[in-house]
Amino acid sequence: MAVTIKSEHEIALMRVACRNLSEMFDELEKMVKPGISTWEINKKGEEMIRDYGCTSNFKNYGGYPAAICISVNEVVVHGIPSKSIILKEGDIVSLDAGMIWKGYHSDAARTYAVGKISPEKQKLIDVTRQSFFEGIRYAKAGNHLHDISAAIQKYAESFGFGVVRDMVGHGIGSHLHEDPQIPNYRDPGMGRGILLRPGMTLAIEPMITMGTYEGEILSDGWTYVTKDRKPAAHYENTILITDGDPEILTLPDWKPEH
Ligand code: MF3
Ligand code: CO
Repeated sequence: MAVTIKSEHEIALMRVACRNLSEMFDELEKMVKPGISTWEINKKGEEMIRDYGCTSNFKNYGGYPAAICISVNEVVVHGIPSKSIILKEGDIVSLDAGMIWKGYHSDAARTYAVGKISPEKQKLIDVTRQSFFEGIRYAKAGNHLHDISAAIQKYAESFGFGVVRDMVGHGIGSHLHEDPQIPNYRDPGMGRGILLRPGMTLAIEPMITMGTYEGEILSDGWTYVTKDRKPAAHYENTILITDGDPEILTLPDWKPEH
Protein backbone atom coordinates (compact mmCIF):
# COMPACT_ATOMS: atom_id res chain seq x y z
CA MET A 1 0.00 0.00 0.00
CA ALA A 2 1.30 3.44 -0.89
CA VAL A 3 1.87 6.18 1.65
CA THR A 4 -1.15 8.50 1.41
CA ILE A 5 -1.47 12.27 1.67
CA LYS A 6 -4.58 13.22 3.63
CA SER A 7 -7.03 15.87 2.48
CA GLU A 8 -8.14 18.71 4.77
CA HIS A 9 -11.40 16.86 5.28
CA GLU A 10 -9.65 13.65 6.31
CA ILE A 11 -7.36 15.59 8.64
CA ALA A 12 -10.38 17.25 10.25
CA LEU A 13 -11.85 13.83 11.05
CA MET A 14 -8.52 12.59 12.43
CA ARG A 15 -8.30 15.68 14.64
CA VAL A 16 -11.55 14.65 16.33
CA ALA A 17 -10.41 11.05 16.90
CA CYS A 18 -7.06 12.34 18.19
CA ARG A 19 -8.39 15.07 20.47
CA ASN A 20 -10.81 12.63 22.10
CA LEU A 21 -7.97 10.19 22.64
CA SER A 22 -5.82 12.85 24.25
CA GLU A 23 -8.68 13.73 26.62
CA MET A 24 -9.28 10.07 27.40
CA PHE A 25 -5.67 9.62 28.52
CA ASP A 26 -6.02 12.56 30.91
CA GLU A 27 -9.01 10.79 32.49
CA LEU A 28 -7.44 7.33 32.58
CA GLU A 29 -4.25 8.73 34.09
CA LYS A 30 -6.26 9.72 37.18
CA MET A 31 -7.19 6.05 37.70
CA VAL A 32 -3.57 4.88 37.75
CA LYS A 33 -3.15 4.15 41.47
CA PRO A 34 -2.10 1.15 43.56
CA GLY A 35 -4.94 -1.36 43.94
CA ILE A 36 -6.77 -0.85 40.63
CA SER A 37 -6.99 -3.69 38.13
CA THR A 38 -6.06 -3.17 34.51
CA TRP A 39 -9.56 -4.50 33.66
CA GLU A 40 -11.15 -1.49 35.40
CA ILE A 41 -9.01 0.96 33.42
CA ASN A 42 -9.96 -0.71 30.14
CA LYS A 43 -13.64 -0.70 31.11
CA LYS A 44 -13.56 3.06 31.70
CA GLY A 45 -11.76 3.52 28.37
CA GLU A 46 -14.38 1.48 26.51
CA GLU A 47 -17.14 3.58 28.08
CA MET A 48 -15.42 6.83 27.14
CA ILE A 49 -14.84 5.76 23.52
CA ARG A 50 -18.52 4.87 23.26
CA ASP A 51 -19.59 8.17 24.88
CA TYR A 52 -17.56 10.08 22.29
CA GLY A 53 -19.58 8.33 19.61
CA CYS A 54 -16.38 6.65 18.43
CA THR A 55 -15.44 3.01 18.12
CA SER A 56 -12.31 1.21 19.26
CA ASN A 57 -9.80 0.33 16.57
CA PHE A 58 -7.97 -2.09 18.89
CA LYS A 59 -10.87 -4.19 20.09
CA ASN A 60 -11.08 -7.35 17.95
CA TYR A 61 -8.05 -6.26 15.90
CA GLY A 62 -6.60 -9.65 14.98
CA GLY A 63 -8.63 -10.98 17.90
CA TYR A 64 -7.25 -8.58 20.51
CA PRO A 65 -9.91 -8.60 23.27
CA ALA A 66 -9.82 -5.02 24.69
CA ALA A 67 -9.79 -1.33 23.72
CA ILE A 68 -6.72 -0.41 25.73
CA CYS A 69 -3.43 -2.31 25.72
CA ILE A 70 -2.20 -2.14 29.32
CA SER A 71 1.41 -3.15 29.83
CA VAL A 72 2.98 -3.33 33.29
CA ASN A 73 6.76 -3.23 34.01
CA GLU A 74 8.51 -5.84 31.80
CA VAL A 75 5.55 -5.92 29.41
CA VAL A 76 6.57 -3.73 26.49
CA VAL A 77 3.26 -3.63 24.58
CA HIS A 78 -0.03 -5.47 24.00
CA GLY A 79 -0.70 -6.44 27.63
CA ILE A 80 -4.27 -7.73 27.96
CA PRO A 81 -6.37 -6.03 30.67
CA SER A 82 -7.34 -8.47 33.42
CA LYS A 83 -9.17 -8.47 36.75
CA SER A 84 -6.19 -10.35 38.16
CA ILE A 85 -3.57 -7.76 37.16
CA ILE A 86 -3.60 -5.25 40.02
CA LEU A 87 -1.34 -2.20 39.88
CA LYS A 88 0.97 -1.77 42.85
CA GLU A 89 3.19 0.98 44.18
CA GLY A 90 6.45 1.12 42.22
CA ASP A 91 5.05 -0.29 38.97
CA ILE A 92 5.15 1.52 35.65
CA VAL A 93 2.20 1.04 33.34
CA SER A 94 1.76 1.85 29.65
CA LEU A 95 -1.66 2.59 28.24
CA ASP A 96 -1.94 2.31 24.45
CA ALA A 97 -5.23 3.07 22.72
CA GLY A 98 -6.93 4.49 19.70
CA MET A 99 -10.38 5.24 18.33
CA ILE A 100 -12.22 5.76 15.06
CA TRP A 101 -14.32 8.84 14.19
CA LYS A 102 -16.24 8.65 10.90
CA GLY A 103 -13.78 6.15 9.49
CA TYR A 104 -10.59 7.90 10.64
CA HIS A 105 -8.20 6.60 13.28
CA SER A 106 -6.14 7.86 16.18
CA ASP A 107 -3.41 5.99 18.08
CA ALA A 108 -1.32 7.02 21.10
CA ALA A 109 0.40 5.60 24.17
CA ARG A 110 1.61 6.95 27.51
CA THR A 111 3.61 5.37 30.34
CA TYR A 112 2.68 6.33 33.91
CA ALA A 113 4.16 5.77 37.37
CA VAL A 114 2.06 3.90 39.93
CA GLY A 115 2.62 5.78 43.19
CA LYS A 116 6.27 6.30 44.05
CA ILE A 117 8.68 4.61 41.64
CA SER A 118 12.46 4.17 41.52
CA PRO A 119 14.59 6.92 39.95
CA GLU A 120 15.67 4.39 37.30
CA LYS A 121 12.10 3.73 36.23
CA GLN A 122 11.34 7.45 36.20
CA LYS A 123 14.38 7.99 33.99
CA LEU A 124 13.13 5.29 31.61
CA ILE A 125 9.72 6.98 31.34
CA ASP A 126 11.25 10.42 30.81
CA VAL A 127 13.81 9.28 28.22
CA THR A 128 11.17 7.32 26.29
CA ARG A 129 8.92 10.38 26.11
CA GLN A 130 11.79 12.70 25.23
CA SER A 131 13.04 10.30 22.52
CA PHE A 132 9.73 10.90 20.73
CA PHE A 133 10.32 14.67 20.85
CA GLU A 134 13.93 14.26 19.69
CA GLY A 135 12.60 12.23 16.77
CA ILE A 136 9.92 14.66 15.67
CA ARG A 137 12.42 17.51 15.39
CA TYR A 138 13.09 15.79 12.04
CA ALA A 139 9.40 15.32 11.18
CA LYS A 140 9.44 18.00 8.51
CA ALA A 141 8.61 18.05 4.83
CA GLY A 142 11.85 17.52 2.89
CA ASN A 143 13.45 15.30 5.53
CA HIS A 144 13.46 11.54 5.27
CA LEU A 145 11.62 9.12 7.53
CA HIS A 146 14.68 7.43 8.98
CA ASP A 147 16.03 10.77 10.18
CA ILE A 148 13.29 10.47 12.82
CA SER A 149 14.22 6.86 13.56
CA ALA A 150 17.91 7.63 13.98
CA ALA A 151 17.25 10.56 16.34
CA ILE A 152 15.06 8.41 18.61
CA GLN A 153 17.68 5.68 18.72
CA LYS A 154 20.59 8.01 19.36
CA TYR A 155 18.85 9.70 22.26
CA ALA A 156 17.58 6.52 23.96
CA GLU A 157 20.87 4.63 23.56
CA SER A 158 22.85 7.54 24.98
CA PHE A 159 21.28 6.61 28.35
CA GLY A 160 22.22 2.94 27.91
CA PHE A 161 18.63 1.93 27.17
CA GLY A 162 17.49 -0.60 24.56
CA VAL A 163 15.44 0.26 21.48
CA VAL A 164 12.86 -2.39 20.62
CA ARG A 165 13.27 -3.80 17.10
CA ASP A 166 10.34 -6.22 16.81
CA MET A 167 7.68 -3.51 16.83
CA VAL A 168 7.58 -0.23 14.91
CA GLY A 169 5.44 2.86 14.31
CA HIS A 170 3.30 3.28 11.22
CA GLY A 171 1.26 5.49 8.96
CA ILE A 172 -2.34 5.99 10.11
CA GLY A 173 -5.56 7.35 8.60
CA SER A 174 -8.48 5.39 7.22
CA HIS A 175 -6.68 2.35 8.67
CA LEU A 176 -4.91 1.91 12.00
CA HIS A 177 -1.81 0.59 10.30
CA GLU A 178 -0.82 2.14 6.99
CA ASP A 179 2.51 2.43 5.22
CA PRO A 180 5.20 3.39 5.96
CA GLN A 181 6.59 1.34 8.82
CA ILE A 182 8.48 3.61 11.19
CA PRO A 183 11.33 1.91 13.06
CA ASN A 184 12.76 3.57 16.16
CA TYR A 185 16.30 2.73 15.03
CA ARG A 186 18.34 3.05 11.86
CA ASP A 187 20.65 0.18 11.03
CA PRO A 188 23.33 0.44 8.38
CA GLY A 189 21.82 -0.42 5.02
CA MET A 190 18.33 0.76 5.88
CA GLY A 191 18.72 3.89 3.83
CA ARG A 192 17.06 7.22 4.52
CA GLY A 193 13.46 6.08 4.21
CA ILE A 194 10.70 7.86 2.31
CA LEU A 195 10.67 11.59 1.72
CA LEU A 196 8.29 13.31 4.16
CA ARG A 197 5.54 15.39 2.59
CA PRO A 198 2.82 17.67 4.01
CA GLY A 199 -0.41 15.78 4.70
CA MET A 200 1.22 12.54 5.85
CA THR A 201 -0.13 11.29 9.18
CA LEU A 202 2.16 9.08 11.20
CA ALA A 203 2.07 7.20 14.51
CA ILE A 204 5.54 7.53 16.03
CA GLU A 205 5.99 5.19 18.97
CA PRO A 206 9.31 4.56 20.69
CA MET A 207 9.38 1.39 22.86
CA ILE A 208 12.43 1.61 25.12
CA THR A 209 13.83 -0.92 27.60
CA MET A 210 16.10 -0.81 30.64
CA GLY A 211 18.15 -3.75 29.35
CA THR A 212 18.09 -5.85 26.21
CA TYR A 213 15.98 -4.73 23.28
CA GLU A 214 15.03 -8.35 22.64
CA GLY A 215 11.58 -9.52 23.55
CA GLU A 216 9.20 -12.45 23.32
CA ILE A 217 5.47 -13.05 23.17
CA LEU A 218 3.87 -14.89 26.10
CA SER A 219 1.58 -17.91 25.62
CA ASP A 220 -1.56 -15.71 25.45
CA GLY A 221 -0.36 -14.78 21.96
CA TRP A 222 -0.24 -11.02 22.68
CA THR A 223 1.71 -9.96 25.75
CA TYR A 224 5.14 -8.85 24.52
CA VAL A 225 7.77 -8.83 27.29
CA THR A 226 11.48 -8.06 27.43
CA LYS A 227 13.62 -11.20 27.27
CA ASP A 228 15.52 -10.19 30.40
CA ARG A 229 12.25 -9.16 32.14
CA LYS A 230 13.61 -5.67 32.78
CA PRO A 231 11.09 -2.80 32.59
CA ALA A 232 10.07 -1.11 29.35
CA ALA A 233 8.22 2.10 28.48
CA HIS A 234 6.16 3.21 25.48
CA TYR A 235 5.21 6.66 24.25
CA GLU A 236 3.25 7.35 21.07
CA ASN A 237 1.42 10.13 19.27
CA THR A 238 -0.32 10.53 15.95
CA ILE A 239 1.31 13.45 14.12
CA LEU A 240 0.70 15.44 10.94
CA ILE A 241 3.53 16.49 8.63
CA THR A 242 3.07 20.10 7.48
CA ASP A 243 5.10 22.70 5.59
CA GLY A 244 6.64 23.73 8.91
CA ASP A 245 6.69 22.10 12.35
CA PRO A 246 4.68 18.91 12.74
CA GLU A 247 1.36 18.97 14.53
CA ILE A 248 0.87 16.43 17.30
CA LEU A 249 -2.77 15.54 16.75
CA THR A 250 -2.98 13.52 19.97
CA LEU A 251 -1.49 16.44 21.97
CA PRO A 252 -3.59 19.26 20.50
CA ASP A 253 -2.26 21.95 22.88
CA TRP A 254 1.42 21.22 22.16
CA LYS A 255 3.50 23.97 20.57
CA PRO A 256 7.10 23.53 19.41
CA GLU A 257 9.71 25.32 21.56
CA HIS A 258 11.81 27.61 19.37
N1 MF3 B 1 -1.07 0.39 19.35
C1 MF3 B 1 -0.66 -0.67 18.53
C2 MF3 B 1 0.08 -0.04 17.40
O1 MF3 B 1 0.48 1.04 17.54
C3 MF3 B 1 -1.77 -1.49 18.01
C4 MF3 B 1 -2.34 -2.36 19.01
S1 MF3 B 1 -2.62 -3.88 18.33
C5 MF3 B 1 -4.06 -4.30 19.01
O2 MF3 B 1 0.30 -0.56 16.39
F1 MF3 B 1 -4.33 -5.46 18.63
F2 MF3 B 1 -3.97 -4.21 20.31
F3 MF3 B 1 -4.97 -3.49 18.60
CO1 CO C 1 0.64 2.53 16.94
